[in-house]
Amino acid sequence: MPPEVVSEEPESTLAGSRMVEELLAVHRPLRADIVVLGCALEILTDATGDHSAVPEMINGLTIADFVWQLRLNCDYYCNVLTAHHSLEDHRMFPVMLRTFPELASAIERLYAEHADVVDLIRETRSATANLTTEPDTVDRARVAVSVLADHLTAHLDFEESTLFPYFRRMDSDWHYG
Ligand SMILES: [Fe+2]
Ligand SMILES: [Fe+2]
Repeated sequence: MPPEVVSEEPESTLAGSRMVEELLAVHRPLRADIVVLGCALEILTDATGDHSAVPEMINGLTIADFVWQLRLNCDYYCNVLTAHHSLEDHRMFPVMLRTFPELASAIERLYAEHADVVDLIRETRSATANLTTEPDTVDRARVAVSVLADHLTAHLDFEESTLFPYFRRMDSDWHYG
């Protein structure tokens, strides 16, 4: 008798699979872009280093333009992240809590992590708004982005591992709930 095939993914409703894919599609660029921003600031930190890779990272700009572009990109990134967390706070978490009361403590943690991100975003915005080619301004921005990246990556990991098993049990999307 052939061995039983065990699916690695637990069974999912159609709505659940869609919700998992949709949240991953939002989280993917959040994860990827903060790595690029961090790398660009790392390169810029080394004033005597080779900056030739930097323009390639943001479409062939000059180094002088790059600082300006980096400020805009960091600001834009912070806006997207803030909007994503606001949607989760006001729409997704309430639906999940109402549907699965046993998620209360995990969702409390997710809310608290979003609140921490608000502070980290404030520092990132301020540090990158003041970014010039002066080494201390570059270093402040590099540290701010690095701290935000660490916190955010851990948060996204926890959010996905906590919510996805519950998404997979749902018959309708939280957007409609
Ligand atoms: Fe979140
Ligand atoms: Fe999220």
